[in-house]
Amino acid sequence: MASTSASTSFLQAIQNRRTIYHLSNKKILSDDALVKLVRQAVREAPSSFNVQSSRVVVLLGEQHTNYWLKIVPDALRASSGERAVEASKPKLEGFAAGQGTILFFEDMALIKGQQEAFPRYAPNFPHWSKHASGMAQVYTWTLLEAEGYGANLQHYGNLTGETLKKLYNLPETYELQGEMVFGYPETPAGEKEYMLDHERVIAYGHSE
Ligand SMILES: Cc1cc2nc3c(=O)[nH]c(=O)nc-3n(C[C@H](O)[C@H](O)[C@H](O)COP(=O)(O)O)c2cc1C
Repeated sequence: MASTSASTSFLQAIQNRRTIYHLSNKKILSDDALVKLVRQAVREAPSSFNVQSSRVVVLLGEQHTNYWLKIVPDALRASSGERAVEASKPKLEGFAAGQGTILFFEDMALIKGQQEAFPRYAPNFPHWSKHASGMAQVYTWTLLEAEGYGANLQHYGNLTGETLKKLYNLPETYELQGEMVFGYPETPAGEKEYMLDHERVIAYGHSE
């Protein structure tokens, strides 16, 4: 059972997690400690039937800059032309200025296995796989923030997923879900507008 102070610090951590775009590569943790942190987040994230389908690749140093300054521009050029690359350049250079990128994949071989094992739920497993990825992502994002990093989440996977699988010799069954850029937070997140809580969450009934 979570104690009051544990739930307070968890709440604080999730309140602190924000989208931060202005990042630099000033070091916070060693590479080993960083990878360990990401492993811990992914390890604890829940998944449907405990399938543990999330797979993660951490890009550091030149692997990270290569993604934002070569792989993504090349993919954008091929799909949308040079103008799209020019228009995206400042944004992509901003991502490259961070310290690293965490690629979140789902191994669809495991999801197919679930569909075969439990045909009754077959259409739902791909949705639950995405939920599980989101859970691994938000754990990772929050832990990074708690360690002093800033992070933001990007989605170029439909353009770059296949290239990444070839480059890093990843299984064909991996499906890229999102790319989390992280680094030293040079500028804090801006103000965030919130809807009214009671319009989003309602309750019926009474507990004793
Ligand atoms: C599923 C999901 C997809 C997102 N995709 C992107 C994205 O492609 N690019 C981006 O800059 N931010 C993306 N974001 C970040 C959201 O814009 C951001 O979380 C939202 O505006 C709330 O701000 P906060 O993260 O500071 O709380 C995404 C967030 C979620 C949860």
